[in-house]
Order: sequence, then structure tokens, then C-alpha cells
Amino acid sequence: MPLELQINGTTHQLDVEADTPLLWVIRDELGLTGTKYGCGLAQCGACTVLVQGNPVRACVTPVESVAGLPITTIEAIEQDDVGRKVVEAWVAHQVPQCGYCQSGQVMAATALLKQTPQPSEEDIAAAMTNLCRCGTYNAIAAAVRDVAKA
Ligand code: FES
Ligand code: FES
Repeated sequence: MPLELQINGTTHQLDVEADTPLLWVIRDELGLTGTKYGCGLAQCGACTVLVQGNPVRACVTPVESVAGLPITTIEAIEQDDVGRKVVEAWVAHQVPQCGYCQSGQVMAATALLKQTPQPSEEDIAAAMTNLCRCGTYNAIAAAVRDVAKA
């Protein structure tokens, strides 16, 4: 049975095993390589995408569990008003260093700011759990605060 996936507003019929991680489907089947593979263990957040607006670690998400649900990847995040503001703040603060973790960080920040437009410091700390080997955490928090102020 093909699975139906709604990615970035487009419906795809895909012939994949039901337990295939969503990350591999996004990257290998659909060629959307902005979503990154880091740990494969739900620890780092590099693979974060939004499912119904909620941040999800795609490396441990069986594709069957999100069939038919709206999924957003980094490639479409600027089509969202909040996502676009997050990207603009990331640029203004020059957040990325190597950049590897940053698509996941942007997704997590967008989810936070859509659900909690004016997050407290505690909200930011609780939501922004993605790892960054380059230590961009202060710049990330500053960019999130800027979007909240705007
Ligand atoms: S690659 Fe998914 S959490 Fe690290
Ligand atoms: S910018 Fe390098 S890992 Fe985060």
C-alpha cells in the first residue's frame, strides 16, 4: 500500500516500508536535504520538522505515523509568516557557524514562536533543546527574543 504524505503543501504517494524513518523519506525519496541527520537517536534535533505545527524528530518517526498529516520542512519554512521572521532574525544575528544544526534550530524556534509568540526565558530554554556543536546557543536565544519583540 502506498503511503500518502503531505509535505510542504504537496501530496506524495510513496511506496515505502511503514516503519521507515520519516527523515529518510524526506531526504532520500523526496530529495529535500535541508533536514539533517545527526545522531539518529532523537537526541540532537538536527532532523526536526514540523508535523501539524509541532516539532518532531524525523529520525525516529515512522513514516506511517505521520501519513496524511501536514508536514513542513526547512525548505518551506519561509512560506510561514513566523518562519520567515525567524529566518530573518537568524540572518540579522548571524546565528549559524558551520550551519549543520541550524535547519533544526529554525524549525524548533518557529514551532515555539507560533505556539507562544512571547516566550519567557524558561519557555525558550524548554523549547530550544536542539544541540549545536558550534555553541550558537546565545545567538539563537537572542534571535528568538527579537522575533518575540517584533
Ligand atoms: S538526527 Fe534526529 S535527533 Fe539527531
Ligand atoms: S552551527 Fe555548527 S553545529 Fe550548530
